[in-house]
Formats: sequence, structure tokens, C-alpha cells
Amino acid sequence: MLSRRKFMSCGAGAAASALLGGCAHTGGISSPRRSSVPMPPGLETTGEQSLKAHAARAGLLYGCAVAPKLLSSDAAYTQTILDQCDILVAENAMKWAALRPAFGQFNFDQADALLRFAEQHQMKLRGHNLLWHEALPKWFAAEVNRSNARQVLVEHIQSVAGRYAGRMHSWDVVNEVVWMKDGRPDGLRTSPWLELIGDDYIELAFRTARLADPTALLAYNEFGIELDTEDNQQKRDAVLLLLRRLKARNVPIDAMGVQSHMRAVDMPGFTGAGLKKFMQDVRQLGMQVFLTEMDMADKGLSGDTAKVDAAVADGYAKYLGAALSDPAVTVVLTWGITDRYTWLSWNKEKKVAEPVRPLPFDRGYKATEAFYAIRGAFDERKAGRA
Ligand code: XIL
Repeated sequence: MLSRRKFMSCGAGAAASALLGGCAHTGGISSPRRSSVPMPPGLETTGEQSLKAHAARAGLLYGCAVAPKLLSSDAAYTQTILDQCDILVAENAMKWAALRPAFGQFNFDQADALLRFAEQHQMKLRGHNLLWHEALPKWFAAEVNRSNARQVLVEHIQSVAGRYAGRMHSWDVVNEVVWMKDGRPDGLRTSPWLELIGDDYIELAFRTARLADPTALLAYNEFGIELDTEDNQQKRDAVLLLLRRLKARNVPIDAMGVQSHMRAVDMPGFTGAGLKKFMQDVRQLGMQVFLTEMDMADKGLSGDTAKVDAAVADGYAKYLGAALSDPAVTVVLTWGITDRYTWLSWNKEKKVAEPVRPLPFDRGYKATEAFYAIRGAFDERKAGRA
């Protein structure tokens, strides 16, 4: 732990930057909430009124996805994370492309820094992810083939999960492996892994992860399984069949990650009936449910900021009203914490970043209506459990 004096002399966020590699001048912005004027009680957002405190009272861990580099460059970002989170996940820093600069090489600098940060602040850390069809390094296609793929995957999982063994809350062992549009009867995505290894690659990944880190909870993480729509229902059915197949073969799998990338425009008619049934089925398999990557895109909404914020907040209230109803849900993470840094700002068609408002804090680190909606949903869950 950093001493109080060093903490003060660096500034709060810079203290975090010191933890990540030196008390350099950060140029970060100072938190607007750190004024000497006391907040009216209803507007307080830290301490007992933080997301993590309200989540804890509802039997949940709350946290968000982070970029380790920002922890050493943006003081307000770091302070907001310290204020709000009990658990973190690397948005990109533990993916293959980040960890594997060249075939046979690893670079753990950012991932190590993140684990140090989490441990120094008594936060838990999730790993994301050990196997995905995206974020594969450039060298992958040239170097990995049918004869070495199994060994390459096993060595990756042994090296990465093994390095952090005993220190991780959980790992997303496999990410997004069901894709109905590929047309296979089992619903599996025709990913490089499936093509190079065969359909036992999922089982292989979980078994290797358990051996490498016997204490981390092992999760399968998936998107497109939240809505009441026909295609989301089909995907839930395929995911459940996969989970049942894995469980029947005693594959070590502890949790289902429901990514929860939502769009406010989809939420007015949302009931969550399909999701609730799914979570109940997952619970009956003896598994936990994590909401792993929640955000509420404002794409397609029109009107002024107040209207957009209200629709996003309503979306969160509706989604979490259903998603938190099952006792299997133990962890909630948003995919980022501030509208200043969110993958949703990237407009692929125009190749520019646009201002968007999907997260609990705005670009100036002020709590948005979404913050109060999420916190309110935690409170409702607590009331429901009482
Ligand atoms: C996203 C990151 O947020 C972006 O920064 C990156 O460019 C692409 O990946 N599902 C996942 C996450 O499992 O890993 C993705 O993260 C978002 C969708």
C-alpha cells in the first residue's frame, strides 16, 4: 500500500499511476466531486452511496472493464474506479492480441500492472479471455495449423491462467462460441479454433484452465442471449444445450457470463421472460450467472440529452429489473465506467469517435441518470431478498 503522504503528494489518481509505474505528472483532470461543498445526501455517489456499496448490500459484486493505460494517465478515471468498483476486468489487456506480440512470445506488462492495481486496492480481478475468435494476433493465421493448434491453445492457457493462479476471481475461458448463423446443428461457431482443433476445443480449454488455476471460477461468456426475440431465444437454447453437454461430461465450468450489451431502443417492450428462464436453467446446472459487459447504447435515440439519458436510464432499470431477479446472479460489470471511454463511441462506418452516453458516469465524471437507475436496481434486488 502507498503511504498516505505519498498518496497526497501525487494526488489520488497519480497515486494509482505510481502503482502502475512511477509518480509521473499525469496531466489528468481533477475530480469534480472532490469539492469542499458537501453534497446533498441524495446526490452523494461515493462511500456508502457508491455502486459497489449498494451492490454489496444486494449480495452482488459491482465493477467495470478497464484500460490499464488509463489508470496511469487519467486521475479522475482512476478515482471513479476506486470509488465505485469491487471487481475489475481488462477490456483488452488480457486478450491474445495484447499478450502475444509474436509466436512463442508473451508480454504481460499491462496485465501484470492491472493485477497489481487490483490487489493494492483490495479489488477482485476477472480475466477476459482465454479463447475467442477475435483479437487473435496477426501472426496467428500464419503460425497456427491443424497439427499445432491444440498444443498452442493448451500452452497459452497454461501460461496465462497459470501465471495468475490463485489471484483471479474468474476467467472467461471461452468467449462467444455459439453463432446460429453458421448453421451447424450444435450451434457452434465455425471459428478458427473449431476448424483447427475440432469440436472438443471448448472442453479442452476448460479442463486446461482448471488445472492451471484451480481456484478461479471458470465462465463461458456470450452475447445476444438477453432479449425476448426469436433469434435470442434460439441462441439461449443452443447455449443451454452446450452447457448441458459440458456438465454431463464433468467439464469444469462454474459460471455463465451474460454480456448484456443492450440498446435503449430495444428496451421499451422488454420483459426478460426468456432471460429469466435461461438463468433459472443455468442455476439448476449448479452454475452462477455474471453480467459481464453491461452497457446501454443510445444509438438510434433522438432528442436532447435529457431525453437520451432518461431512455438509457429506463433501459437499465428494465434490464436489471429482470436480470437481477435470479439469485444465481452474483456479479455485475459495466463495460467501462465513463462515457469518455467506451467502445460504443466508435462509429465504424464514419471511422470517427462520436459522443455517446451509455455508462453510469458522463465525460466529465458526473453520475448520470444511468448511475441512479443501476443503483436503484441493486436496491430493489436487496429489497426482494429481504
Ligand atoms: C471490445 C473492446 O471494448 C474494444 O475496445 C475492442 O476494440 C474490441 O473488443 N464482446 C467482448 C469484448 O467479449 O471483448 C469486446 O470488447 C466487446 C464485445
